[in-house]
Amino acid sequence: MTVHFIGAGPGAPDLLTLRGRDLIAASPVCLYAGSLVPAALLEHCPPGARIVNTAPLSLDQIVAAIAEAHAQGHDIARLHSGDLSIWSAMGEQLRRLRALDIPFTVTPGVPAFAAAAAALEAELTLPGLTQSVVLTRTPGRASAMPPAEDLAAFATTGSTLAIHLSIHNLAQVVAAVTPAYGSDCPVAIVWRASWPDQRIARATLATIVEAAADGPDRTALILVGRVLAAADFGESSLYATGYDRRFRPQDATSRFAEDSA
Ligand SMILES: C[S@@+](CC[C@H](N)C(=O)[O-])C[C@H]1O[C@@H](n2cnc3c(N)ncnc32)[C@H](O)[C@@H]1O
Repeated sequence: MTVHFIGAGPGAPDLLTLRGRDLIAASPVCLYAGSLVPAALLEHCPPGARIVNTAPLSLDQIVAAIAEAHAQGHDIARLHSGDLSIWSAMGEQLRRLRALDIPFTVTPGVPAFAAAAAALEAELTLPGLTQSVVLTRTPGRASAMPPAEDLAAFATTGSTLAIHLSIHNLAQVVAAVTPAYGSDCPVAIVWRASWPDQRIARATLATIVEAAADGPDRTALILVGRVLAAADFGESSLYATGYDRRFRPQDATSRFAEDSA
C-alpha cells in the first residue's frame, strides 16, 4: 500500500497531470484538502472510493486516517492544491510516514503562480529586466516568517515577486516593496486563477489598493515587477539568428557541428 501525494493544480479540473489522474483512479481511498482542491477532481476516484475532506482534520487525525488505510492494504491518493513543493504541509506528513514506515510517492502539480502568470499572459523572467522569480508570502497567524525573508529585502533584488497568502495584507505589501520598485511599478492580482470565477486587477503600486478594494480577501496571487507591463526588453540569445548552439550549429566550424551530425 502506498500514499500518493498529488499536486491537484490551481483549480481548473483539467490542470491535473495524467499521472495524477491515473493515481487517483487507482486508489480506493482519497484524502483531499477541501479548502482549495476542486471537487471535480474527485470524479476520477474509483466507484465506492472512501473520500475524506481533510480541511477540518488535525495532522494527527490525517495520519491516523492514512495509517488505517495502510493497515487495510489500500492505496491512498492525497491531494493538495497547486504543487506540493510550496505551502502544502506535505513535509510534516512525509516525516510522519517515514517514521511509520509507510511508503509514498510524490507527483507534482501546476502551481497557482504559474496559473496566475498564464491568466496574465505574462512571462515572469524577461531578458534585461529580471531572470528571477521570488515565491514568497507575508507572515500569517499560523506561520511566522524567518527574519531574513523580509519582503522589503526581497524587493531590493528587483526580481518578479509572486506573493502568496497575503491579499488580506495588501496595503502592507505595497508599503514594503514600494521603496525598492517605485510607485509606478506594475502590479497584478489574480484571484482564483483558472477557476470559473477567476478575477484580475492590474494597476501600479500607487493604485493597486484602490483597484483591489472590492476584491475577495482570499485565494489570490499578488505579482509585482516591471515584467508585467514591459514592452521594451531584450530577446533571448538562444533564438538569435547568429547564436551558435548545440541544436543549431552556425556552420561546419562550429564546436557543436560534430554533435548534431
Ligand atoms: C496554502 S497556499 C497553496 C499553494 C499551492 N501549493 C501552490 O502550488 O500554488 C494557498 C495560497 O496559494 C495561492 N493560490 C492557490 N490557488 C490559487 C489560485 N487558483 N489563484 C490564485 N492564488 C492561488 C493563494 O495565495 C493562496 O492563499
